[in-house]
Amino acid sequence: MTRPAADAASLRYHIETWGCQMNVHDSEKLASALERQGYARAAGIDDADVVLLNTCAIREKAEEKVFSELGRLRGWKGAAAGRVLGVCGCVAKQAGATIFARAPHVDLVVGPRATGSISSAVVRAREAPTALRFLDLEQRSDSIRFPFDEIRREGLGAGKAFVTILEGCNHRCTYCVVPRTRGPEIARPMAEVLAEIRSLAAAGVVEIELLGQTVNAYRDAEGHTLADLLLRAAEIAAVERIRFTTSHPAQMTERLMDAMRDAGPKVCPYLHLPAQSGSSAVLRAMRRGYDRERYLAKIDGLRRRIPGMRFGTDLIVGFPTESDADFGQTLDLLDTVQFDLVYSFAYSERPGTRAVELGDRIDPTTKFERLARLQEHQLSIQERRNRDWVGRTVEVLVEGPSKRGDLRWTGRTAESRIVHFAGPAVPGRFLTLRVTDSTALSLRGEPVSSCA
Ligand code: 5AD
Ligand code: SF4
Repeated sequence: MTRPAADAASLRYHIETWGCQMNVHDSEKLASALERQGYARAAGIDDADVVLLNTCAIREKAEEKVFSELGRLRGWKGAAAGRVLGVCGCVAKQAGATIFARAPHVDLVVGPRATGSISSAVVRAREAPTALRFLDLEQRSDSIRFPFDEIRREGLGAGKAFVTILEGCNHRCTYCVVPRTRGPEIARPMAEVLAEIRSLAAAGVVEIELLGQTVNAYRDAEGHTLADLLLRAAEIAAVERIRFTTSHPAQMTERLMDAMRDAGPKVCPYLHLPAQSGSSAVLRAMRRGYDRERYLAKIDGLRRRIPGMRFGTDLIVGFPTESDADFGQTLDLLDTVQFDLVYSFAYSERPGTRAVELGDRIDPTTKFERLARLQEHQLSIQERRNRDWVGRTVEVLVEGPSKRGDLRWTGRTAESRIVHFAGPAVPGRFLTLRVTDSTALSLRGEPVSSCA
């Protein structure tokens, strides 16, 4: 028998999210799909009738975390009848039906391009608790056309919102599972993206972050590119800040760099531009489509156009062909570019990728030694760069009280520097602060008196 619709009103969901901003935003979409069915957000797992894990498969460790969390959830699942447990995101696509074999208490597995089917999956799992296991790994080409006015957004109170413009990836970096899990690129029509930004601006959003695995590869069916989109988005009066992530160096065109300058100061002077390695030989083996010189030329091109432009990057150490000298080139890249933020990872062999043919040749000790050296080196660079902010006045968008105590509030500058300060303040508002202190990771500031 079908449960009456009113039943859903008393049901609660909980979503756990791992991985990139795209996953964070997908979780907002999953939440809104469940809320449309009448589900309410649970206070935590114990209080939930439906638990979804929105997962990341980029490294083995991320995938293993999902399975250990599933192990912990066995007790929750068995504690009451009718509970539904689902795995979404990239592990769903990567591991597929084998998830049911490893974790038989999972009811549904839904891939990252099939999130539209989550509502019916949950309803079916509740109606046929043991008889049915729901598996949907399809890569739908309309996955990107989500009704944007229904998305349950987390950042609205802080004046920020994500807007997906491109899903999937057409590159074939030899170490990466993303093209398999998220499928080929699919771009949203520019008109729809602009409509979403306008509607967000009307709801009080001042900072927009455009999302895509390779966001700067954006080209819609009418030929509009990210350059066009930046210029048009900057015309929307209430939008104060525009960011976009993640960019691929090979697609950082002259036209896009010009547009970043010409769109004006709303385009934040901070760009996350994953280099992955500082060695041209390793970049070739990774099939990144650029070498060290071409990467540096992009950095220079942007610094020439936008004074004060700052950069973040991703780096992988211990790629199978990486020699000591190659690693030295990566360390040297840190000195040359002077990044403000580096995410660094030990190479993790992923099933189904081209690099598997090379073997996982660098022993774990060497890999983790290199990782530690790289991180230590970068922290000393960041410490120095952050010290340069002390004494300067900055404008931050207030994010909210920091987790470390009521008196510590957090804001972010256009350059993506995190500033802690004593509150209270209003999330989503701009505030002028004088920087009084710094560490390698953040700045500390105090409000500049408005009646001075
Ligand atoms: N091993 C280690 N790091 C990886 N990344 C992607 N695939 C792997 C892998 N197999 C890193 C890249 C990418 C970031 C999101 O994760 O640096 O930019
Ligand atoms: Fe993975 Fe390369 Fe695509 Fe980035 S550009 S998602 S690293 S294949």
